[in-house]
Amino acid sequence: MNLNDKIQAINDSFSKDKKNFKSNSIKFDDFKNKYLGRKGLLSELYPLLNSVSDSDKPECGKKINSIKNVITKEIHSLGNNLSDLSNNALNIDSSMPGTEKFSGSIHPLTKIIDEIKSIFNRIGFSTIYGPEVDTDYYNFEALNIPKDHPARDMQDTFYINKETLLRTHTSSSQIHFMEKNQPPLRIISPGRVYRNEDISVRSYCLFHQIEGLYIDKNVKFSDLKGTLDYFAKSLFGENVKTRFRPSYFPFTEPSAEMDVSCIFCKSKGCNICKQSGWIEILGCGMVDPEVFKFVDYDVDIWSGFAFGIGIERIAMLKYGVKDIRIFYNGDIQFLEQIKL
Ligand code: PHE
Repeated sequence: MNLNDKIQAINDSFSKDKKNFKSNSIKFDDFKNKYLGRKGLLSELYPLLNSVSDSDKPECGKKINSIKNVITKEIHSLGNNLSDLSNNALNIDSSMPGTEKFSGSIHPLTKIIDEIKSIFNRIGFSTIYGPEVDTDYYNFEALNIPKDHPARDMQDTFYINKETLLRTHTSSSQIHFMEKNQPPLRIISPGRVYRNEDISVRSYCLFHQIEGLYIDKNVKFSDLKGTLDYFAKSLFGENVKTRFRPSYFPFTEPSAEMDVSCIFCKSKGCNICKQSGWIEILGCGMVDPEVFKFVDYDVDIWSGFAFGIGIERIAMLKYGVKDIRIFYNGDIQFLEQIKL
């Protein structure tokens, strides 16, 4: 086929394909590639120049360029108008799932910690942090738990050596802070704690707590109750009730555990609250004067209360999680499910 015939053939085929494209019988990409692709029809024209005499070459070159420009322009303008055409013309199956974009989210434990922090920050508590690797002195001794005290059995400890350990509770942050600051004070201290316990659906070798400490003149048990009741209502809603049961911690006297009325059954009794209508969420008490002695606070002037909130427990309740381990294994499906 000589060059002129070939150009004519391409022109004819292009007019036909334009119609086919508009009537949706050829897809845009195929249409475009057929002419403009690396091995497209237009690319077939240039080799034909070889068979043309030198004197005809400029003329033929112009013809090739001209058809190439016209077709390229037309195809691009059809492409630009694609968005104006109906889905049907585009051959799009609108029932097909789109490409999903994954976005990160805040871990549920971090979310709860942030929420609790802001509840206490609103009433003047500031946030401080203590070390996770600490000494026996800060974790036990200065909290009125001497060596050989039976209360050490309450918390199975990971020792690094005789004196150094992974903290078993955030109460150790209290001592660090009191050593460096004078009362009055109002702090909370969130963080990770470690216990050498058998791993199960209910316990893991690490978990999170938020410690609270309030010291001033004339602080009474009623202040503790009022503060923690405000906290429970802020977190779980105005209708939640609180109750305090006597308990024992070596660093507080008297000590208590606070329960909230079961948010699932509204205290009617369900298997989450074990039919009792109440769920325990924290330990608390009035700071034992023995602790003040370790940090040189005058026990005749100062009094205060402390509390330790278990974060996982609250997160499990809030998200209906039955196995504590799922918070730590980075399971994307779980995290996606409770993305907030
Ligand atoms: N540290 C205690 C625990 O881990 C909780 C607590 C903190 C109790 C402060 C009383 C006061 O169990």
